Order: sequence, then structure tokens, then C-alpha cells
Amino acid sequence: MAGFAAIPNNIVTSAGVAYVHYLSFMVCFGALVLERRLIRPNPSREDATLMVITDVVYGIAALGLLGSGILRVVVFAADSSYYTANPLFWWKVGTYLAVGGLSLYPTITYILWALPLRRGELPQVSEALANRLAWILNIELAGFAAIPLMATLMARGVGLPAA
Ligand code: HEM
Repeated sequence: MAGFAAIPNNIVTSAGVAYVHYLSFMVCFGALVLERRLIRPNPSREDATLMVITDVVYGIAALGLLGSGILRVVVFAADSSYYTANPLFWWKVGTYLAVGGLSLYPTITYILWALPLRRGELPQVSEALANRLAWILNIELAGFAAIPLMATLMARGVGLPAA
């Protein structure tokens, strides 16, 4: 117990925020994989409902990812410019925003599904729409897979301009 008592509060909070960053990343990735697996023309009621729920979970986790990321830069960094001076950091933020922007299309699509689902009807999903959503999800997954590489490099100062 003495060992735990010696750990300062700010270290525990900073570890907690870093944990939220990793956990939300995992939840986002898992949600996208599930959506990718479920998408098909004219889904069943169960699948369509699950996709709507999965997208809500994805949205909440994406906000957790952004919030914890901002806290890591603004509150927990010894020197924020260690990140902001690094182009890799901005590529990381840019990729996140691009993936987020791209996910508006599936999100709006699922919100539109929620309306017939609430009336007990099935959403009409054409082969073309299912293919389009599958491709968007593929690109989002590739973006999410690339971001941690930028993160690990950035965390180690790769990309920082020579002082
Ligand atoms: C705009 C949103 C984001 C911001 C502002 C942000 C910021 C940060 C910061 C400041 C760190 C700490 C680096 C260090 O330990 O020195 C970090 C680490 C990390 N981030 Fe993000 N992040 C964001 C989005 C993401 C996303 C979307 C992912 C995953 C897809 C991600 C994955 C990681 C990983 C894996 C690390 C650990 C790197 C390491 O310690 O080796 N981040 N992030």
C-alpha cells in the first residue's frame, strides 16, 4: 500500500487520461470493424439496429479520443510545443479529422435508418449504398490503423525540426 500512497495524484490522472485515449481508440476500431462486418444490402432489423447502436458507441468513443488527446497536449504535456511543432502531430490530427469527416456519411445514413426502424419498418439499402458504406469503412479503418504509427513516432520526437 505504501507504494501506491507515494504516487502523486497528477500521475494517476495523467495515466487515466492516457488510458481513456487507448480505450477509446480500441472501441472506435472495434465499432468500425463490426459496422464493416454488418453492412449488407437490405439488412435485417437486428443488424440495422445493431449498426445504429454501434455508430452511437463509435461517436462517443471518437469524442473521448479527441478529448483525451487534447488533454494530453494541453494539460499533461511538459511542453505542448513538443507536439505542436511536429508536422507528424498535425498529420495525426488531420487524419483523425478526415476520418471523422468521412464518418459523417455513414452516420447520417444510420440516423435515417433509425426513422423506419422506429416505425417497425426495414431501411431500404441498395447494393450500391452498401458498397459505398463498405468502402468508406475500409478507408476509415486504414486511417485508424495509420494514426498510432504517427503517434508512436511523434511521441519519440521523430519529425521535430532540428533546434
Ligand atoms: C486529434 C486527436 C488527437 C490528439 C490531439 C492526440 C494527442 C496525443 C498525445 C499528446 C499523445 C501523447 C504522446 C506522448 O506520450 O508523448 C498521444 C499518444 C497516442 N495517441 Fe493520440 N491524439 C489524438 C488522436 C489519436 C487517435 C485518433 C489515435 C488512434 C487512432 C491515437 C493514438 C495514440 C497512441 C497509440 C498514442 C501513444 C503513443 C506512444 O506513447 O507511443 N491518438 N496522442
